[in-house]
Amino acid sequence: MSGHATPEPMTARRSGPLKGRAEVPGDKSISHRALIFGAMAVGETKITGLLEGQDVLDTAKAMRAFGAEVTQHGPGSWSVNGVGVGGFSEPADVIDCGNSGTGVRLIMGTMATTAITATFTGDASLRKRPMGRVTDPLSLFGARAFGRQGGRLPMTIVGAADPVPVRYTLPVASAQVKSAVLLAGLNAPGETVVIEKEPTRDHSERMLLGFGAKLSVEKTAEGHVITLTGRPELKPQTVAVPRDPSSAAFPVCAALIVEGSDILVPGVSQNLTRNGLYITLVEMGADIEFQNPREEGGEPVADLRVRASSLKGIEVPPERAPSMIDEYPILSVVAAFAEGKTVMRGVKELRVKESDRIDAMARGLEACGVRVEEDDDTLIVHGLGAGGVPGGATAKTHLDHRIAMSFLVCGMAAKQPVGVDDASPILTSFPVFEGLMKGLGADLVRR
Ligand code: S3P
Repeated sequence: MSGHATPEPMTARRSGPLKGRAEVPGDKSISHRALIFGAMAVGETKITGLLEGQDVLDTAKAMRAFGAEVTQHGPGSWSVNGVGVGGFSEPADVIDCGNSGTGVRLIMGTMATTAITATFTGDASLRKRPMGRVTDPLSLFGARAFGRQGGRLPMTIVGAADPVPVRYTLPVASAQVKSAVLLAGLNAPGETVVIEKEPTRDHSERMLLGFGAKLSVEKTAEGHVITLTGRPELKPQTVAVPRDPSSAAFPVCAALIVEGSDILVPGVSQNLTRNGLYITLVEMGADIEFQNPREEGGEPVADLRVRASSLKGIEVPPERAPSMIDEYPILSVVAAFAEGKTVMRGVKELRVKESDRIDAMARGLEACGVRVEEDDDTLIVHGLGAGGVPGGATAKTHLDHRIAMSFLVCGMAAKQPVGVDDASPILTSFPVFEGLMKGLGADLVRR
């Protein structure tokens, strides 16, 4: 849904200690994919634990527009009656993906090898983001894209009537691009091959296998070579969506920096393509116990017991970036409360997220009294130690949910309150953030 209503300012004051259990909602990446793969299967896919954030609701609406039947049965409980690979019908109206890069890019891939035309748009944030990274490989299948300058939305995709399979090496480490190519490859005859030099989140590969596609992943000197055989009949599945490690990051990081905190965050994914933040926090000295490791919804998970910790700054290895790409904003807040500097290199992808996250974090942290250095591909935060951040500022969130949540967490531990100009984007990924954090003892007020 594009076009946000009036901004909703919110302020966090020094809080805590944070105590209790933080049950974060379903994983956003897996929720989008459960709806999309369900729409590509023949028959009824049942989903539990679906994230009911606006991004995912927009994907549900889009799947209906392409002809799938998508029904909500209760909180988190949904079903999708799919139309089969290549079975999408032409939508009667523009597809509005709201704030969601994942939604629009995966759906473009899905429809690009069917002989239909669809026009996509989104909110002011999504309309600034580059789509060329997906339309370039989609054109190799035979699809055509007509968008605004710089490959921006609104954009019309004319799907290929006679698609050919593709061999494509990802020029950027992006699970969205990888997934768009695989989804397009579903309706191309023969084998579509995607090569990724650096591993990115692997939910599409796992889910394609779960839905019965023929897919192999070979680890070679070139990187991961993913081969998908086109035109399978996907079999409907029961998908239990695990909790989102990117959402869990907010209560976890808040507990680390709010004095005296001790919380439990159950069911956090330990998928190696998603757990870079947790490895980094442990290297910084975080007191996190990984309890009760097990499998949930096909993902390795653990319960995280997190206690407030004295942290030290570190160099985050650039090759870790894809496994924590959404976590740099909250990591830079944690870094501000660590002793010494934290160096984050190889992070230029942050400039094309829901906002330019390097710029948004740098400006907001500076306003809170933290010294920051940046260049195109780097963010360095000079930590002030536990309780050392002055705060007393209002950060601009630029329609970016993770920037909003990061600065609210900052305010929970800073000397003076920290506000955000607009907390409404939080609804895209973590609709229960405010209640959940208040339940742990966070002092959040709406103004
Ligand atoms: C996602 C991939 C990442 C991530 C986004 C979700 C996905 O984007 O930032 O929040 O579900 O595939 P990129 O693929 O652009 O890195």
